[in-house]
Amino acid sequence: MHAIVTGGASGIGRASALRLGQRLKITIADRDLAGAQKTAEDICASGGSASAVEVDVSHRASVAAMVASARKANGPVTALFANAGINRRAPVDLIREEDWDLMMATHVKGVMLCCQAVLPDMVAGGGGAIVNTSSDFAIMGVAGNATYTSAKTAIYSFTKSIALELAPHKIRVNAIGPGPIDTPLLASGRSSGQHAELKEKFARLLPLGRMGTPEEVAVVVDFLLSEKASYITGQLVHPNGGQLMW
Ligand SMILES: NC(=O)c1ccc[n+]([C@@H]2O[C@H](COP(=O)([O-])OP(=O)(O)OC[C@H]3O[C@@H](n4cnc5c(N)ncnc54)[C@H](O)[C@@H]3O)[C@@H](O)[C@H]2O)c1
Repeated sequence: MHAIVTGGASGIGRASALRLGQRLKITIADRDLAGAQKTAEDICASGGSASAVEVDVSHRASVAAMVASARKANGPVTALFANAGINRRAPVDLIREEDWDLMMATHVKGVMLCCQAVLPDMVAGGGGAIVNTSSDFAIMGVAGNATYTSAKTAIYSFTKSIALELAPHKIRVNAIGPGPIDTPLLASGRSSGQHAELKEKFARLLPLGRMGTPEEVAVVVDFLLSEKASYITGQLVHPNGGQLMW
């Protein structure tokens, strides 16, 4: 069994790769090759089997090369965690067209390209499992973050539709909707003061009284990609501290 984890150099992807590496061969794919190599080395140091590959998930040729390299190193792909992501926050009147295009290319097109690229192995192998990283923000409105929320809603919608298409092939497709998780992405574009303020706000407002950790998301990813989740497909599962209940 072999999983590709995109965005595996950092945050949620790294924590998920480390956890999945306890039971699967892992290909860590990221535009940050050094970071991906570090995650792969850490998995191997714990007795697992992993390799790293550089990818830009928003480019078809790069994604095709990622899957070819992954297959060569670790055999046919049986699981995918399509997770790479960025953020560009701005109120609606200040959204820049190039930021909108980059966000849609990274998140929406990136997830689509990665799902497409692993399908031949999964169909030939008689099944598989995919988890796409969406967000609580797929459902909630968030002032000042409309580009990101739009991308995450699209990923959720894409996940549901392809879950229907791929069920006959025994390929399960789910999405995760994390709440605020303490990673470099959450800190990006914010001063250390703003980041500290945000932490304090979550401590005050979230039902569970704190931000989540990447490891708390990795548990959910591991479950959804495992046989334990054999009757779950097309769902958005929320490790979110109770931020959103619906
Ligand atoms: N941190 C949160 O609060 C939170 C909440 C909900 C959803 N998410 C989502 O979780 C995912 C992981 O985010 P994180 O918080 O772990 O952030 P992170 O910045 O720690 O990790 C993101 C990784 O994606 C990689 N990446 C970015 N663009 C890429 C591209 N085009 N091709 C390949 N790799 C690329 C980065 O190099 C990085 O290693 C993202 O999709 C993010 O939107 C995060």
